[in-house]
Amino acid sequence: MQQLSQSWYRAGESVGFVPTMGALHRGHMTLVEKARRENDRVVVSIYVNPTQFGPKEDLNKYPRPRREDLALCRAAGVDAVFAPTSLYPEDFSTWVEETVQSKGRCAVSRPIHFRGVATVVLKLFNIVLPDRAYFGRKDAQQVDVIERMVRDLDVPVKVVPVETVRDADGLALSSRNRYLSPEERKRALAFPRLLRLASQQKQPEAWLRQALRRVVGIKLDYVELANGRLCAAVWVGTTRLIDNRPVRGKR
Ligand code: PAF
Repeated sequence: MQQLSQSWYRAGESVGFVPTMGALHRGHMTLVEKARRENDRVVVSIYVNPTQFGPKEDLNKYPRPRREDLALCRAAGVDAVFAPTSLYPEDFSTWVEETVQSKGRCAVSRPIHFRGVATVVLKLFNIVLPDRAYFGRKDAQQVDVIERMVRDLDVPVKVVPVETVRDADGLALSSRNRYLSPEERKRALAFPRLLRLASQQKQPEAWLRQALRRVVGIKLDYVELANGRLCAAVWVGTTRLIDNRPVRGKR
């Protein structure tokens, strides 16, 4: 992959990169389309990164529809899919740890998550050597961590955050939505609806906390205002959903 990217670089071609864990949906494809428009070459990585999953999380059941993913990439004009089997030697011992943005929010229930994300994203940047890398805003804290890492470590990659893509019913697209039963999915819709309403209130965090308390079948994980966005995570059955909205006047 590195050699391929270097050959593009020598030919004066720019490289856009969309890192993913596969199970591609319209949200990912929006990133790919933007990368396609803004670069000569587009690379998608598909790698379910074990170091960002906690011991009790869904690493083993994370969906891996490889054939469908490759077909989507081909149809979208992706130049290369980088899908390694492993990125970690057995005695791997070097980590990237961002220490401010990766506190609070999702890190409260997923304490090792952002160390795994920052480490694998820097590794992927070093392998793919992109000019620009595209990330969905749905994972707001991930964007914050990666932007800070790139700034602090002088990584020569432009991070491009892209607005969240939603289904017609308002639910933010996520590979994990496929875990929801039809019944759970119906219940989950209160989450994006209340989040949107909350983002227009004077005290959005308190408003959302209270509103979600009244919804049957949704259990709140956290609500937190960070970097001008109202961020929240909830449990619907055994599925954890995250979402965020810019807060009025704070963008
Ligand atoms: O957002 C994701 O899918 C992952 O966290 C990423 C950025 C591909 C790193 O494994």
